[in-house]
Amino acid sequence: MGGHQFVANHVKPLGASGIRRVFDLAASCSNPINLSIGQPDFPVPANIKDAMIEAIRNDHNDYTVTQGIQPLRERIVRQLHEELNWSPEPLVTCGVSGGLLLALMACINPGDEVLMPDPYFVSYKHLVHLVGGTAVPVSTYDDFQPNPDRFAEAVTDRTKIVLLCSPANPTGVVTRDANLAAIAEMAERHDLLIISDEIYDMLVYDGPATSMVRFAPERTVLLRGYGKSYALTGLRLGYAAGPSEVIAQMSKLQQYTFVCAAHPAQYGALAAMDTDMSAEVNAYRGKRDLICKELEDTFDFVRPSGGFYLFLKAPSRFESATSFVDEAIARNLLVIPGNAFSERDTHFRASYAASDDQIRKGCDVLRSIAG
Ligand SMILES: Cc1ncc(COP(=O)(O)O)c(C=O)c1O
Repeated sequence: MGGHQFVANHVKPLGASGIRRVFDLAASCSNPINLSIGQPDFPVPANIKDAMIEAIRNDHNDYTVTQGIQPLRERIVRQLHEELNWSPEPLVTCGVSGGLLLALMACINPGDEVLMPDPYFVSYKHLVHLVGGTAVPVSTYDDFQPNPDRFAEAVTDRTKIVLLCSPANPTGVVTRDANLAAIAEMAERHDLLIISDEIYDMLVYDGPATSMVRFAPERTVLLRGYGKSYALTGLRLGYAAGPSEVIAQMSKLQQYTFVCAAHPAQYGALAAMDTDMSAEVNAYRGKRDLICKELEDTFDFVRPSGGFYLFLKAPSRFESATSFVDEAIARNLLVIPGNAFSERDTHFRASYAASDDQIRKGCDVLRSIAG
């Protein structure tokens, strides 16, 4: 064996996710305190489960049309109209990851540049490179607001897309309206497409997160998901909506790749859109308050307004956030080093999608390491 050249040259250099490295290290921990999780810890509401089980029993297990089942698409259209007074054709996708890949495949020519706030969600940079583009991270340290001036400075004649995320992973920061407006204006000036990843839109604790659609309805591809809001990440469901020429190409590409989103899960999404999640959101607001209170005297961080992450600065006596995280793992606590999401290795991500007891125990360990 060996000596073959089976694997494509552009795939080999992609680093494995820094999150995976923590999980590999964690294999040696027994019953760790886990603040590394990227999904909610509440169960899927019963009515959503029932809708999916009924769909399976009613033999909705075959392919759907690529765009998604009609009642779900109509429900999404109603939602976007009521919320944003916006009427694009939606495409039901296999999670936000599916929508993101299709949007990048549909829009990137070789060498096109994609601006993205740094820190960024783990897959952004790699997906851009996979489809032949160039990722251009734009620092948002230390307040984690995408600063319109820094974005404007990063624009070149190859810039094609601005990829934004609010509320953000890994910071939980909600982009301020003024910054959205200024970036929309910049996109207009340079004729850029905006991809707005709003997967955490429902998990907000200090008022709603404004959608980029309000500022750039003609040039935004909106990506939303059901996984985080309803705790059904494994069912792989989301939707994309935006300029019809882009959505049409994404639909065509979906035919040849994912084909369609899982049929029974689409019935789950339909039920989900009429399910009140305020109790779960209130519980998560409580967890946000808890973790912030536990750590505010010891660590530097920006108080998050959405999602379920806190992005903390590692104490300066550590040479990198990775060495801080190695120390945490040695003490049986899992958190993720910031370089999984960033060009910098100064911060780390703690998730509060965990029980209050786990959060308190994890914070005890973090404080004890910080000394
Ligand atoms: C910002 C962001 N976008 C996209 C995704 C992927 O979502 P999905 O599971 O719907 O593919 C995640 C998951 O962690 C995320 O945090």
